[in-house]
Amino acid sequence: MTFDKKRVLTEIQDLLERIAIPGTPTNLVKAGCVQRIIAHEGEVSVVLAFPEEFLRHKEEMKRAVENGVTAIEGVTKTQILEKLKPGEERASAAPGAPDAAPAMAGRDVPGVKHIVAVASGKGGVGKSTVAVNLAIELARTGAQVGLLDSDVYGPSVPKMLGLEAERPRATDQETVVPVERYGLKTMSIGYLLEEDSPVIWRGPMVTGLLRQFLFQVEWGELDYLVLDLPPGTGDAQLTLVQSISLAGGVIVTTPQDVALLDVQRGIQMFSRVEVPILGIVENMSSFQCPHCNETTEIFLSGGGKAAADRFGVPYLGSIPLAPSYAVAGDRGTPVSVAEPDSPMAETIGSIARRIREQLP
Ligand SMILES: Nc1ncnc2c1ncn2[C@@H]1O[C@H](COP(=O)(O)OP(=O)(O)OP(=O)(O)O)[C@@H](O)[C@H]1O
Ligand SMILES: [Mg+2]
Repeated sequence: MTFDKKRVLTEIQDLLERIAIPGTPTNLVKAGCVQRIIAHEGEVSVVLAFPEEFLRHKEEMKRAVENGVTAIEGVTKTQILEKLKPGEERASAAPGAPDAAPAMAGRDVPGVKHIVAVASGKGGVGKSTVAVNLAIELARTGAQVGLLDSDVYGPSVPKMLGLEAERPRATDQETVVPVERYGLKTMSIGYLLEEDSPVIWRGPMVTGLLRQFLFQVEWGELDYLVLDLPPGTGDAQLTLVQSISLAGGVIVTTPQDVALLDVQRGIQMFSRVEVPILGIVENMSSFQCPHCNETTEIFLSGGGKAAADRFGVPYLGSIPLAPSYAVAGDRGTPVSVAEPDSPMAETIGSIARRIREQLP
């Protein structure tokens, strides 16, 4: 059965208009509690925001929305998320987060419509590769796109874009002009460090630096700012994701069974700060032989898909492991530019289109 998105969205809208706020003559929609409805192939996320006076009915209303949406024909999965008000302290949802977090909790970046974070449960799974190519594919759809490398300990965006020798220009307003390449505005600590200089900053310094990257860089008007997060889902990453208002998170994983655990951590990190999960990408799913083009499954693949099903988040697709992809990254010409017809470029292109659809 094909998914009739228009009908489902209409039914969800009608449903939300029917859900009354107890003790008031108003409903969820009229009261401005509905922030966003995202529907994709049966998977629906509804983002709600509750003003102070309705908070005591929150759980009851969330349940009503969840039950109602789940009962709509064609809906296979329902995710109810809650958006915190700008400036509201998210650290309360995240015990153990470093102290620097509340100072910049949940802020919008002026001029930037949607910030999409790319995360992974562990290092080396291809997060930066996905972030770089996703930014390029989003720009290809005609959007204005920025790419912020927030991995201050292991920045790889300058290398992947062939921009290692670049230095961003400072303006006399104490702001910095991002470095442009392949239609993207980019910023990375890699532009500011001498090669091989060790990064010895501790948590609060990192937060301070990222705040500057977000608020003192001349991003201009952007439809999307893609954030390449540092590997892992610990306090440092949590501090980052709770410090700005994120539109959504993409989780990159590998196909082995253990991916389930990594994905779970990623999902937990985003849900602690109530950021919707746009989906899971499985990288290095199979090996594509450069000689005969035959595809071989190296691992018992499917971990990413299994994790998506298990946790009820969208599965965005899989990317094969191909030697030329690593070469492209090393040479500073991303796969989406060097091999625009490759499976990686195609998969990431379709992810970009899905994201555009979900976050227009
Ligand atoms: N599908 C793929 N096929 C071949 N090589 C790949 C693929 N995806 C990524 N790589 C290569 O694997 C290496 C690690 O990828 P990448 O730097 O994107 O991972 P990461 O998750 O950002 O790592 P880190 O945790 O260090 O930030 C890079 O050399 C990259 O070019
Ligand atoms: Mg990386």
